[in-house]
Amino acid sequence: MGREAEAKGEWVLILDFGSQYTRLIAKAVRELEVYCEVAPPTLSAREVRERGPRALVLSGGPRSVYEPDAPRLDPQLYELGLPLLGICYGMQLIAQQLGGRVERSPRQAEYGVADIEIVRADPLFAGLSRKERVWMSHGDVIAEVPPGFVPLAYSAGEPRRLAAMRDATGQIYGVQFHPEVHHTPHGLQMLRNWLRGICGLRGRWRPQDLVGQKVQELRDRLRGKRALIAVSGGVDSSVAAVLTHRAIGDRLVPVFVDTGLLRKGEPERVRRVFERLGLPLRVVDARREFFERLKGVTDPERKRKAIGETFIRVFEREARRLERERGPLDALVQGTIYSDVIESGGAGTAHGAERIKSHHNVGGLPERLGFELVEPLRDLFKDEVRRLGRALGLPAEIVDEPPFPGPGLAVRVVGEVTPERVRLLQEADAIFREEVARAGLQRAIWQYFAVLLPVRSVAVRGDGRGYGYVVALRAVHSRDGMTADWVKLPYELLERASSRITNELPEVTRVVYDVTSKPPGTIEWE
Ligand code: XMP
Repeated sequence: MGREAEAKGEWVLILDFGSQYTRLIAKAVRELEVYCEVAPPTLSAREVRERGPRALVLSGGPRSVYEPDAPRLDPQLYELGLPLLGICYGMQLIAQQLGGRVERSPRQAEYGVADIEIVRADPLFAGLSRKERVWMSHGDVIAEVPPGFVPLAYSAGEPRRLAAMRDATGQIYGVQFHPEVHHTPHGLQMLRNWLRGICGLRGRWRPQDLVGQKVQELRDRLRGKRALIAVSGGVDSSVAAVLTHRAIGDRLVPVFVDTGLLRKGEPERVRRVFERLGLPLRVVDARREFFERLKGVTDPERKRKAIGETFIRVFEREARRLERERGPLDALVQGTIYSDVIESGGAGTAHGAERIKSHHNVGGLPERLGFELVEPLRDLFKDEVRRLGRALGLPAEIVDEPPFPGPGLAVRVVGEVTPERVRLLQEADAIFREEVARAGLQRAIWQYFAVLLPVRSVAVRGDGRGYGYVVALRAVHSRDGMTADWVKLPYELLERASSRITNELPEVTRVVYDVTSKPPGTIEWE
């Protein structure tokens, strides 16, 4: 048996009751080097047995187990002898289906950080203290554990509520809190205790095994088909392209649309990287078309819309041209990752039916083209995509690149976007980037860039008077882009960047540094 098959031999099945955290459970299990899959809870015990997982996790969910149409498990599943861990709704369901009692919390719902007190030594809490901090998010409580179950932990405050339980043999566990979220500091340790200590899984799966699995999935899905992908140079589309190329070779055509809105030297860099990877890009020079469409547009939302529409038009035209040249295409591959996928909420819709936030550049494309949409990274988080990229041999300049907005520099030229303004911004931005690199900080800052403002400012130029643009520099630390702190860059760096920008670009007469965090400011200016 190959290592991959052997490793998958001890995989975990996560039954998803629609929790917003289900994918975090999957991510945590993968981080603990155990392969896992997510499936709807409607699977029958027979179907689960045929799939052959070594353990089951029941996720949380938005429903109440006592609602008449609340999702339930095939009761036979409890008889399979598989180790089972119920989280939140999952735990309540176990309690209810095995003869305990669940009721609406007599007081307010428990939501947020809470402390629990472990009342019975158990392998689930091995290595942890008697009191642990956890993340709670529930309105229902277990009033009575099922026959044969023992309480393991209670919430520390009043009223005392059950926080963890197990059955007599240790086959079935339930926790009311969410070990999968990082607000439960020792949550990963609890999951490790369960996977290793209780389920006896060895953790032989490695993130690089994901390459083989994804390639195989793509090979099956795209058998005999030809596909197209729009590559932007960002990590997601690059990883999706390289992965798909591994699976179907030259039946994948990667297209790179040069919008004229990328950073200085970026189109050449992307082209070079892909050439080195043996994946030559089909480059479409659409700069003129984009600038034409952006003429007179100053409103940020209208700008985004104009860019999205132009992108679709250009890409569709290219797809048709390709079909005329080389025959029909069947599929559109997109690098959508999990954070692009919005959970639409409700247990019934959580299984593969999530709505997708339209990708700024390619929203609406699959419908327009009539192609099958393939999204190989849909279940992965950004750091997993980066890891996958590394395993695929993508260079650090792609894999570790800070985020870059889909509409490109258009949202960093405040006001009307013209070729001249974009050129100025590209130069100013390149100088800032060089200076950040010179200070050795390029990996230490989450995102940094220059912004060109439409205001003019007076300057002294030699003996004369200057009147030119203002460039704002921005650098932020962030975890996920949702919140951000402005970075206290060294004054020397700011000084050098400012002096170079105003000297090398006579059209720019002033440089300012943005000292706004998010909230209240967004990271981009538009
Ligand atoms: P904001 O400006 O909303 O940005 O604080 C948060 C993060 O998202 C990036 N960003 C975008 N990415 N298309 C994208 O693909 C967009 O339209 C867009 N707007 C902002 C931004 O660079 C930051 O990392």
